[in-house]
Amino acid sequence: MILELRNVGKSYSTAEGPITVLKAIDLRLARGKSVALTGESGSGKSTLLHLAGGLDKPDTGSVRVNGRDIGQLDDSGRARYRRLEVGLVFQQFNLIPSITVAANISFHARLAERYDPNWEAELVEMLGVAHLLGRYPEQLSGGQQQRVAIGRTLAARPTLILADEPTGNLDEATGDSVLDLMLALSRRANLALLLATHSVRLANKLDEKVVLRGGMISQ
Ligand SMILES: Nc1ncnc2c1ncn2[C@@H]1O[C@H](COP(=O)(O)OP(=O)(O)O)[C@@H](O)[C@H]1O
Ligand SMILES: [Mg+2]
Repeated sequence: MILELRNVGKSYSTAEGPITVLKAIDLRLARGKSVALTGESGSGKSTLLHLAGGLDKPDTGSVRVNGRDIGQLDDSGRARYRRLEVGLVFQQFNLIPSITVAANISFHARLAERYDPNWEAELVEMLGVAHLLGRYPEQLSGGQQQRVAIGRTLAARPTLILADEPTGNLDEATGDSVLDLMLALSRRANLALLLATHSVRLANKLDEKVVLRGGMISQ
């Protein structure tokens, strides 16, 4: 199992008192599989992805990635986990504006000391961004930026991809083609993919679909 959440609970403290977002989440994701995490806005999808991505810690339960409980890691351990094992894709493309597309694509791979020109060339080809390598992010359309962001994530060879509404800023046709590419590349790299979306139509493209409701998961 790449990702395994057991009995995960998470509350936030707010001015009006604590709110419990996740009550007792159990979720498993195997290598090569894609799971859509659906649920209404505010149901806790981003919260769950933050826990899986080591950006935050659960209050209760365990988040295991490749067999290790990442909630137990210290700050440097979590930073290392984020650099080496997990790839995050967000609705905002988060490319680095001051460097070229080519430099953006290699950025995480170099940080992870996994820069591999052959794999990168294959990604560039599959993502159809070869003609854009010398441009800067602001010179790209939204769909092009998200394809570059996906390339940057995959170039570092993570075992787990966490994508939070990755097509939320794109029109439907562009979003569909970006998601299709992300699924094809995840399969090609034999990755586990957890994708949060409020769109049932997009969720149906993935191997499995789970629903987050009332702080619990149902199939
Ligand atoms: N840092 C935070 N502090 C307080 N409340 C938060 C915080 N982050 C999210 N929430 C609340 O937790 C709930 C779940 O949010 P979120 O995980 O973003 O849901 P989703 O991604 O499904 O829309 C919402 O009610 C939101 O307002
Ligand atoms: Mg969200």
